[in-house]
Amino acid sequence: MFLWKESYSVNISDIDNQHKELFKIANRLSDCLKEYDVITDQYDEVKQIFNELTNYTIYHFQFEEELMINNGYENIAVHKAQHDTFINKIKSLEFNEDIYINQKRSMLEALSFLLDWISNHILITDMKYKSFLNGKGII
Ligand SMILES: [Fe+2]
Ligand SMILES: [Fe+2]
Repeated sequence: MFLWKESYSVNISDIDNQHKELFKIANRLSDCLKEYDVITDQYDEVKQIFNELTNYTIYHFQFEEELMINNGYENIAVHKAQHDTFINKIKSLEFNEDIYINQKRSMLEALSFLLDWISNHILITDMKYKSFLNGKGII
């Protein structure tokens, strides 16, 4: 269960809402994994979640990057490089031809991808723009 907490807030409502959306997708995936033990074919659901996750990832990262560019945030290169790595990772998960026969492993890999994103990106890298953007009046 992925639970969003106030300590995850970057104090920018659009971004907090987008991050909460990520937690929702993560919870759907976690439920899907639990269901898999009962119903051994979750292929359609897995494909659907992965597709949404890819689209959401691209949308959210573009949103953040535009906000950083438009406000003259200096450390954008490092931040964007991490975004690009996450996009490549989720695309490789989504378009992996073995998803059908490796549904459980695909879900576990996606969940570890999401944990990595939350703990290493949202809580560390995203937090670095918080005071800068808040200081520019972005809340
Ligand atoms: Fe973010
Ligand atoms: Fe980010």
